Amino acid sequence: MCGIIGYTTKRTDSVSVALAGLKNLEYRGYDSSGIAFYDGKKLDMVKAKGKISNLEEKLSQMDIASSCAIAHTRWATHGEPSETNAHPHQVGKVTLVHNGIIENYASLKEELIAKGYEFKSQTDTEVATAYIDYCYSLCNNKLQALVDACKGIRGSYAFNVIYEDEPTTIYATRKDSPLVIGYSHEGNFAASDISAILSYTNKYSLIDENEFVKITSSIVTFYNEDLTETSNEIKTATWDAAQYQKNGYDHFMLKEIYEQPKVIQDIFNRYYSDCDYSDIHFENFDNIHIVACGSAMHASLVGKYLLQTYAKIPAMVEIASEYRYAEELITPKTLLIVVSQSGETADTLAALRLAKEKGAYVVGIVNAVGSTISREVNKCIYTYAGPEIAVATTKGYTSQVAVFSTLVLNAMKQKGLLDETQEAEIKDELLNIKPKLEQVISQRDTYLDIAKDIYSHKDLFFIGRGIDSTVCMEGSLKLKEISYMHSESYSAGELKHGTISLIEEGTPVISIATNENLFEKTVSNIKETKARGSYTIFVTTDAHDAVDFREFADKTVIVPKTSEFSQAIPVVMALQLIAYETAKLRGCDIDKPRNLAKSVTVE
Ligand code: AGP
Repeated sequence: MCGIIGYTTKRTDSVSVALAGLKNLEYRGYDSSGIAFYDGKKLDMVKAKGKISNLEEKLSQMDIASSCAIAHTRWATHGEPSETNAHPHQVGKVTLVHNGIIENYASLKEELIAKGYEFKSQTDTEVATAYIDYCYSLCNNKLQALVDACKGIRGSYAFNVIYEDEPTTIYATRKDSPLVIGYSHEGNFAASDISAILSYTNKYSLIDENEFVKITSSIVTFYNEDLTETSNEIKTATWDAAQYQKNGYDHFMLKEIYEQPKVIQDIFNRYYSDCDYSDIHFENFDNIHIVACGSAMHASLVGKYLLQTYAKIPAMVEIASEYRYAEELITPKTLLIVVSQSGETADTLAALRLAKEKGAYVVGIVNAVGSTISREVNKCIYTYAGPEIAVATTKGYTSQVAVFSTLVLNAMKQKGLLDETQEAEIKDELLNIKPKLEQVISQRDTYLDIAKDIYSHKDLFFIGRGIDSTVCMEGSLKLKEISYMHSESYSAGELKHGTISLIEEGTPVISIATNENLFEKTVSNIKETKARGSYTIFVTTDAHDAVDFREFADKTVIVPKTSEFSQAIPVVMALQLIAYETAKLRGCDIDKPRNLAKSVTVE
């Protein structure tokens, strides 16, 4: 939702280092930013509306030598994007940056106003800052003040705090929002995620919930709530800073689309070499729930389809923010699978915690190693897709689909539903999937050609049946979130029950038909739209390579035919690239679409 970084150093470059780290956090929110820094005499602050480059421009006009800085890039929750609402906030002796939401900020604000505090911004964060200052005025102990304030705060937070009377020390804590501590010879960090510090160090620690940290340029000390010191493992990050760079691609999204063949091949290679699903026995559970948000939910729908179609196991997919209303269905005999690329999505985390309270066994399919969700599930299956920077997920989704396929194949083996011949055929396919996915990417001209046909329209429909209908949902979301073009995905058979009234002359309809058993029915549905003037883009497999579809298709996209254990992946990659080319033609900010954030850490 937002990105925070704090850096305290023996040198005087804290502002430039914190700013560089902040830019690696911009994908988490980018409507305004700010930085507070100690210049040897006082704590100064600079803020800017819009992208971090605006803050950078302001700072470039200043000659700053600073040994301690905290900085923030914002995705607005309380109060519109503005310099006044941008972090850091400073009240009394406390200067603070925050990622999260203070749910009881209104009542706290009333209490503080009654105690004489005044507020300049509309933010919940300024209230938290004042509350810490108030607690500090009562106990005159910086750590205790932070502990006391956090006990009175309800909501989610990762705080970096500087006190006016100790301006080269950073105090930090977290609850429900991510925060990592970084260690280097020159100084120490506290940041929302490791991408902010990898250019300076690969040594880091994860902070537990309600753990408190005192950070100086040479020493980092961890405390629990009663202020007894705790120890914290120093880990070594396996990623390198280059993975957080575009490496020659125009956009992170394009780079991450191109990484998919290898990412997916690695997942299947791992499955057939050293994967251990021995503690996931679906038949030991009364019901299976799969819970996620957005694209992760779409990947979950593919998982559900494969589970029921091939492993004969029913599963319920629920949007994480709605799952709490199904809590009556959660029992100690429930298997909950939560799916999350970032591992920090608040809605998904809330669902996981609810299920664990009810005694359910929770498996996570997660990309971000060490993320909150990965640490709170009973078993975590990492997708190891590597850092995903573009706000619109691509490899995050396809790697989740690939992991689901391996889970279903394992379930089929457990149930004796996979004979040797079938297993050998599928294994051969999955261990040789990479060139097929590379072939999809090679058709860039086709996708650009289609993008030119559709980018000027205001509405577009995706239709498909079976597994194709779930891929339509992901294709539609991708197009919406990066090109700002409205689209809807519809089960092909359902369109005629109402929504077909929206089809008029020239309305683009992208239809997908990869399942031979459903092929003819889907073609009939396409023809129903064609009869009403639609402009059709037909996506099918090379099983029909020789067929001329121009009777009902204005454009055709052919992807490699595979089993349904991987079919969704080449299809969605074609849709990702159509969305990408469309967004480019519409001049959109592809990696940082308006209003969005990469990791939605508020409910
Ligand atoms: C993906 O393109 C979207 N930006 C969004 O729907 C995302 O999939 C969703 O917020 C879930 O995120 P997660 O996988 O990190 O939990």
